[in-house]
Amino acid sequence: MASTVTVALLAAAVGVTAVNYQPIPKDLSTPHQQRLAIKGPNSMSVGWNTYTKLDKPCVQYGTAANSLTSQACSTDSTTYPTSRTYSNAVTLTGLNPATTYYYKIVSTNSTVGHFLSPRTSGDKTAFNMDIVIDLGVYGADGFTTKKRDTIPTVQPELNHSTIGRLATTINDYEFIIHPGDFAYADDWYLSGNLDGKNAYEAILENFYDQLAPVAGRKAYMASPGNHEADCNEIFPGLCPQGQKNFTDFMTRFGDSNPTAFSSTSKNATAVANAKKAQALAKPPFWYSFEYGMAHVVMIDTETDFTSAPDGPGTSLNSGSFGAAGQQIAFLKADLASVDRTVTPWLIVAGHRPWYSTGSGNICSTCQTAFEDLFYQYGVDVGVFGHVHNSQRFNPVYKNNADPNGMQNPKAPMYIVAGGPGNIEGLSSVGSNYSTNVFAYADDFSFAKIKFQDANHLGVDFIRSSTGEVLDSSVLYKKHDAAFVVQS
Ligand SMILES: *[C@@H]1O[C@H](CO)[C@@H](O)[C@H](O)[C@H]1NC(C)=O
Ligand SMILES: *[C@@H]1O[C@H](CO)[C@@H](O)[C@H](O)[C@H]1NC(C)=O
Ligand SMILES: *[C@@H]1O[C@H](CO)[C@@H](O)[C@H](O)[C@H]1NC(C)=O
Ligand SMILES: *[C@@H]1O[C@H](CO)[C@@H](O)[C@H](O)[C@H]1NC(C)=O
Ligand SMILES: *[C@@H]1O[C@H](CO)[C@@H](O)[C@H](O)[C@H]1NC(C)=O
Repeated sequence: MASTVTVALLAAAVGVTAVNYQPIPKDLSTPHQQRLAIKGPNSMSVGWNTYTKLDKPCVQYGTAANSLTSQACSTDSTTYPTSRTYSNAVTLTGLNPATTYYYKIVSTNSTVGHFLSPRTSGDKTAFNMDIVIDLGVYGADGFTTKKRDTIPTVQPELNHSTIGRLATTINDYEFIIHPGDFAYADDWYLSGNLDGKNAYEAILENFYDQLAPVAGRKAYMASPGNHEADCNEIFPGLCPQGQKNFTDFMTRFGDSNPTAFSSTSKNATAVANAKKAQALAKPPFWYSFEYGMAHVVMIDTETDFTSAPDGPGTSLNSGSFGAAGQQIAFLKADLASVDRTVTPWLIVAGHRPWYSTGSGNICSTCQTAFEDLFYQYGVDVGVFGHVHNSQRFNPVYKNNADPNGMQNPKAPMYIVAGGPGNIEGLSSVGSNYSTNVFAYADDFSFAKIKFQDANHLGVDFIRSSTGEVLDSSVLYKKHDAAFVVQS
């Protein structure tokens, strides 16, 4: 692989092939790459890109498509060197919970979309959350040409891919989490596009446009993976300014994700811990939010803990994004704040796993940094990716199976949901490891968490091309203590 890369980089220096940039729209205010995020208990953020800077990005919204009675604006329209677009973000506040809102990004060329506002913390209505990690662009710069089929772009037939499945089943889930590895723009050299600087940007533009029918319709909660770090992983030292240190990721998602919600617990310690977590959060790298019966924490497995894989001085030389110890202090305060009488389910999602079949892809420094906190505060499910397949592990702590299995365990259950597709292809399942009970790499797949009630949580793995449920399990938790602290 390295020699292919060398050839590609040499060719890049000479500047040969034209990259797959899409045409710039005549109307430069045309919204592209739409994405929604849960921003607070009663607020959603709308993010989008434009091929020009907007002086004042605005969004109109209301509870009927023909009556967009509110308008929110910002001055948030930013770019970075090498990007052709500006990232805009606006926060819509004062929303009634679990209500359909219609919204229109203000432009001379935009249409009305809609979304469901966040459920109040403590609402015990059942809902589903979909999970994709390691997704990747489709088409000429993605897996479809080389690895799967010949469909050049995902639109208008959104039915041949994981994005397609997410689009056609849009009413089956209320939001999506995506902890890391989005476009695979840093794999530009694998597609044969040799003008790396532009190929990187073209892939980002194409990917986030492909995602817009899903991310512009459902909250899409992002955290970083290794593929967001740099313009390539092999010779990161050659990356131009703008394509290093998580710049696109930060520019795109930095103003749209929450910090942590204020606690609605009656316990003063919990309220103080939530406040502390808010101050220590660093969106889009690490943050948390609440939605109905779930408290969801997004962590950064790339930087900002001891021996983090992409931290300063590593080959990807990225971060730090917080002060020394900030992410871990955030996680501790955030987990300690979770009142199970309000949000019985506690989910933590990050990119790199410490339980995975096969060998070589386990992040042992992540395990050292995070696993004890997961156990101590009774995290119910740990969600990871990075390995390109689907896996499920029975509850486990320090590689020891929880004796209760799926019936009220003390240890978290873990899943890997890294198989939805990307140009690198699927990773073979490798050999059985630890408490693994399901491993699948025959086709692209993704995961769904079904919050059924305060005591039952379902996890399904779904085959993208057919919708078939590949594996289904239910975790039972008593959740009889308001605050879990165990050693
Ligand atoms: C308006 O937006 C549509 C959809 O994004 C696009 O195809 C079209 O080119 C845009 N029109 C102009 C005048 O830019
Ligand atoms: C997509 O759906 C259309 C209409 O249902 C169908 O004709 C087409 O074969 C499908 N394409 C793929 C790749 O499944
Ligand atoms: C309040 O919350 C803390 C953890 O944040 C917990 O240790 C303590 O027991 C709780 N107090 C009550 C009365 O539940
Ligand atoms: C990466 O960006 C962060 C935040 O802007 C900055 O604090 C850090 O020093 C940067 N790291 C490197 C290696 O440039
Ligand atoms: C891994 O081994 C365990 C224990 O023998 C078994 O229960 C489980 O089904 C195996 N998992 C897979 C994917 O083969």
